[in-house]
Amino acid sequence: MAFNPADSSLLISAGRIDQFPSLPVPQAVFSGRSNVGKSSLINTLLGRKSLARVSSSPGKTVTVNFYKVAGKLLFVDLPGYGYARRSVSDKARWSGLTDSFFTKNPSSDLIKIAVQLVDLEVGPTGDDLMMIDYLNRSGIPFAVVASKADKPNKTARAEALGRLRNCGGIPAGTEIIPFSSKTGEGRDELWRLIRESCGI
Ligand code: GTP
Ligand code: MG
Repeated sequence: MAFNPADSSLLISAGRIDQFPSLPVPQAVFSGRSNVGKSSLINTLLGRKSLARVSSSPGKTVTVNFYKVAGKLLFVDLPGYGYARRSVSDKARWSGLTDSFFTKNPSSDLIKIAVQLVDLEVGPTGDDLMMIDYLNRSGIPFAVVASKADKPNKTARAEALGRLRNCGGIPAGTEIIPFSSKTGEGRDELWRLIRESCGI
């Protein structure tokens, strides 16, 4: 049967590590600061309008959301970081849950690719660079998505992409994919990468 990404559903919104699923299928994980566009990107990839909740109140929920995609893989929407108004206890929950996802997860060998979102206009924040460094040292293959690529005009966009490439925190050879959930730019390229990494 053809691979149909729209055939997707929320498997579990996990607030605790013991809720992480143990399905034996490859996982693609999406990380980035709160409001960077992770849930919108997941909806765009899956061709679903509102499967992943797009937040009107950023950083509200600290959960790891697992989506089952076409019965073949899992998309993992990590909680966004860097949300200033989050309480100290929520920040601690964020670190605990995210760290557990990578280090204490019984399915961690199933994580085949990490997609790190960086807002193209805003550029990489200190937290983004920390996350990229973490992924780089983890050995998980990863790509950088420059999100909301529809926002800057042509000149600003070229400048922003140049700044991102040369920011010093992204290892040479890392794929950087301009992406827009508004126009669909980058969708096919990112899918190609995900399918290749997950062997689908
Ligand atoms: P958290 O769940 O809080 O971590 O946020 P998130 O990273 O999932 O971001 P989300 O997808 O909820 O998007 C945040 C805001 O950015 C929403 O208002 C979206 O409509 C907007 N947005 C997301 N993607 C794009 C894009 O490609 N272009 C533009 N112009 N806006 C976008
Ligand atoms: Mg979200």
